[in-house]
Amino acid sequence: MTAFHTPRLVVLVSGKGSNFEAVVQATRSGQIPAQVVALISNRPQAGALERATRLGIPAKVINHQTYPDRTAFDQALMTTIDAYEPDLVILAGFMRILTPGFVEHYLGRLINIHPSLLPQYPGLHTHARALADQVRQHGASVHFVTQDLDGGPVVLQAAVPIQEGDTAERLAERVHAIEHRLYPLAITWFVMGRLRLEHNRATLDGSPLEGPLRLESMTAEASRR
Ligand code: GRF
Repeated sequence: MTAFHTPRLVVLVSGKGSNFEAVVQATRSGQIPAQVVALISNRPQAGALERATRLGIPAKVINHQTYPDRTAFDQALMTTIDAYEPDLVILAGFMRILTPGFVEHYLGRLINIHPSLLPQYPGLHTHARALADQVRQHGASVHFVTQDLDGGPVVLQAAVPIQEGDTAERLAERVHAIEHRLYPLAITWFVMGRLRLEHNRATLDGSPLEGPLRLESMTAEASRR
């Protein structure tokens, strides 16, 4: 008989780490039945490193600038990640394009959160682009990472209405707030074995998702129960 295994999460960041902290807090409150075993940053100055110290999470810096090329960096990253034996690798504001070898190695156990309603606005500066287009709503998406940049199957999204007089900063703040609810929910489904990547499609409870689930409808459903 094997002992009960607490799923292990490794979080990769480049910046502030507010999503990292939200995930750690969700493991500690019991929402996510898993433990964050490490934070890895590619930037030595990332604010997330201070958060890791405060939260008592082991942190490592793998500085991409000290590697000759992308493949060498990704190799070092993989070696470091694998030493922690994670069940899930979580990208949370990790600003590096990953090599196909890296993505293949973690396929099905690598997820990302992106600040837009994908497939709208892949890439950078999503808040400013949404405002420039005068769209009525923006948001955030959690998706499995595949070879397709910001294009892997989307699992869960939340919309953020655009308000009159919004700036990219104000909009980003509201998107961040929703991300801190969105990411822990998707991670919970994954570690409970409910969410999977099968044949390049996301499945929940064994059924392929026809499209992304919406946090708004989850909340409505929960309040009806
Ligand atoms: C988030 O908006 C996330 O969607 C994007 O990068 C940002 C990271 O923010 N991928 P933080 O470092 O978690 O505060």
